[in-house]
Amino acid sequence: MTPAPDRGDGSGTPDDDTEALVSSAIEVLGAATTLAALDEAQTDLLGKRSPLARAHQALVSLEPGERPEAGRRLNEARRRIESHLADRRRELQGSERAARLHADRLDPTEVIAPPLRGRLHVVQRTRDELEDVFVGMGFAVAEGPEVETDWYNFEALNMPPAHPARGMWDTLYLELGEPETVMLRTHTSPVQIRLMETQGPPIYAVIPGKCYRRDTPDARHIPTFHQIEGLVVDHGISFADLAGTIETFTTAYFGPDIHSRLRPSYFPFTEPSAEYEITCTICKGKGCRTCSQTGWVELGGCGMVDPAVFEAVGLDADEWTGFAFGFGIDRCTQMRHEIPDMRVFFDNDVRVLRQI
Ligand code: PHE
Repeated sequence: MTPAPDRGDGSGTPDDDTEALVSSAIEVLGAATTLAALDEAQTDLLGKRSPLARAHQALVSLEPGERPEAGRRLNEARRRIESHLADRRRELQGSERAARLHADRLDPTEVIAPPLRGRLHVVQRTRDELEDVFVGMGFAVAEGPEVETDWYNFEALNMPPAHPARGMWDTLYLELGEPETVMLRTHTSPVQIRLMETQGPPIYAVIPGKCYRRDTPDARHIPTFHQIEGLVVDHGISFADLAGTIETFTTAYFGPDIHSRLRPSYFPFTEPSAEYEITCTICKGKGCRTCSQTGWVELGGCGMVDPAVFEAVGLDADEWTGFAFGFGIDRCTQMRHEIPDMRVFFDNDVRVLRQI
């Protein structure tokens, strides 16, 4: 082929021109490192405003005899650029796919940091442990409603309407039915009545649950708190059984250094009645601020089931005997974990809850 004459415009022979077009296109394609960049390069190299397209348009300015050959060279250049473009596209598709697979890979041998896990609230854990101790002693676990009627919360427990002992519990009444007939239970004792009504003796049961009183929160009181009630009804149950059960529970739950004592008290539904106290866990009985220097902390009340209560549920008080107790689960938690202020139980500061 005769070399085309130099046109004197510094662009070299047409052969050189198309060669230069192709090699600069190869460079541009090599510089495109993503499929998006490659699309742009395609427009720049082969689009309407590309040097290739301009060279095509310039064919008209050539001598008619030169045009077919120049046109053939340009078409050849286009084919070569297109084939490089296709190669580069396959290459980039391959590497983008590999990168995606790499990012999505699952390594089953990878050690995953354990996620932060929640845990049961310390009062709930105390409740579970208390249940375990009593179940170990042969008791069943029962439950009752938190909304109660006057009959269960007071009357059947030997507190007729207007009985002064009702003042021992600051009651939250609900606006339901006649005024002051439906309430949030102030203690778990109403479930004693429910159990005696629905299942006959012998009864050996504990009843944990939430109670409500119109109290102002302080270091040892919260208005929504938890009690665990105990009820035993059988033939020949004595106060010694009550005292023995309480002492067994105390050492089982608080450890061998902590003991119980019962002090005379009054509850309308037990006779005789006692207050249940344990050695202060904070000073081990020596006397400290928490126990007001006495060495003892009150956990709850107990006593022998009053004959009037048996009568209310239709049990023969000459045949059946029993004891009952009720104490605070929150207070147990406080003593077991030596927590000075009970309000941390519902502040829900996770820094505190994580420690206990
Ligand atoms: N229910 C009483 C209270 O809440 C405690 C108690 C239960 C006393 C059972 C005697 C018998 O204070």
